[in-house]
Amino acid sequence: MPHTERFPAGFEWGVGASGFQTEGALATDGRGPSVWDMYAAREGIVQNGDFPSTAADFYHRYKQDIGLVRELGVDVYRFSVAWPRILPAGSGPVNAKGLDFYDRVVDEMCAAGLKPAPTLYHWDTPVPIEDAGGWLERDTAYRFADYAATVAERLADRAEYWIPLNEPVVLTQLGYALGQMAPGKTLLFDALPTGHHQLLAHGLAVQAIRAAGGRGIGTANPHAPQHPASDDPEDVTAAELSDTLFNWMWADPILTGRYPDGWAQAMPGPVAEDLAVIAEPLDFYGVNYYSPSTVGTPRPDRDATYGGIPLPDGIPFVGVDTGLPKTGLGGDIDPDGLRDILLTLTRRYGDRLPPLIVTENGTSQQPGTEEPGQDGKVHDSGRIAYLDRHIDAVRQAIEQGADVRGYWVWSPTDNFEWNHGFTQRFGLVHVDYATLARTPKDSYFWLQRLIKDSR
Ligand code: NOJ
Repeated sequence: MPHTERFPAGFEWGVGASGFQTEGALATDGRGPSVWDMYAAREGIVQNGDFPSTAADFYHRYKQDIGLVRELGVDVYRFSVAWPRILPAGSGPVNAKGLDFYDRVVDEMCAAGLKPAPTLYHWDTPVPIEDAGGWLERDTAYRFADYAATVAERLADRAEYWIPLNEPVVLTQLGYALGQMAPGKTLLFDALPTGHHQLLAHGLAVQAIRAAGGRGIGTANPHAPQHPASDDPEDVTAAELSDTLFNWMWADPILTGRYPDGWAQAMPGPVAEDLAVIAEPLDFYGVNYYSPSTVGTPRPDRDATYGGIPLPDGIPFVGVDTGLPKTGLGGDIDPDGLRDILLTLTRRYGDRLPPLIVTENGTSQQPGTEEPGQDGKVHDSGRIAYLDRHIDAVRQAIEQGADVRGYWVWSPTDNFEWNHGFTQRFGLVHVDYATLARTPKDSYFWLQRLIKDSR
């Protein structure tokens, strides 16, 4: 692992997870229902009919998991606060038991020498908020800001990093445009307002967290190169559109206070005023990276899919297979994409870009290949290779001028992978869902060693 020696002093290692994917205890201590509770319970949505009523039982086993992460030797533990635990009705009375839970989690992390990094929203909208229109409504941004203030007032004295919203683009594209995640709407381009309202929510929450004394405020935006499938101008145009919709529609407003040319008109409300809020200065810009996309114009010989997701008519681009080796979820394994996107962000935003952190990177392997063997161990060599090459890509990006201050692995333990249920395991630690026993995988020990050598 020689490349770790060349990480700058102060470079931080971390792990990240989210509430709905790990906690379970969905009806415990006054938690209200979230859109994902409803969506995942629908027939035929989640693979195997899996449902995270217990998930990894983080709600009851957080001390054990924090202990495992402490032993791993990382600096940062990213987790998410569930809005429906804090405000079961989405707004109005605060559920003290919900806040107390995260207070205990944060205390435990601090006692373990870990820096707590709460995400405030990881797609688990309280049902009453969705019933009132969800992210299609401007009011949701203000409700979210109130919720952010409540959590920040309680945790800002100990949280070292804050992420207001996780991957807003995924919620807009898969949740509201394509109906492939909660709340399961198929609005196609009419979903764009949900993007603007989430961006506004981000800006308002940054203000609220700062007002409560919070520090270390950033993002967890997924970014990845969108390669054209060929030199054909139609494919190039298709890839440019995908690039705008996936990358720049989200990063430009936050980092420059502008939408990419032509898109502000598609947004609702006093957009110019909102952009001033959306561009609130940040302490870091967090990037989630898994796989790049290769994109072309729809053609009869091309499947109308995007990242494996079926596309309806009316979307002017499709994903095209490159033949590269795939992750468990079917994306290309391409570490250069991580290096390149970090460098693209660096060039595109120059002085406006705060320090970068890779807030998510990791992989599942082929389903069924990660069970403990006869020796009781999990030999996840595919994950080790993936992490090794992506960590090296971060090192290359730093060498070539990107100011990357941290790398957080998704995820400390196996957890509920949304529509894929428990079939896709992203953990450094295996979870036996029948017994809830934790077994650190080979990748856990490999990363532990790598981090130690890098100090
Ligand atoms: C991004 C999401 O933030 C997270 O919830 C998910 O589990 C990982 N990617 C892996 O797909």
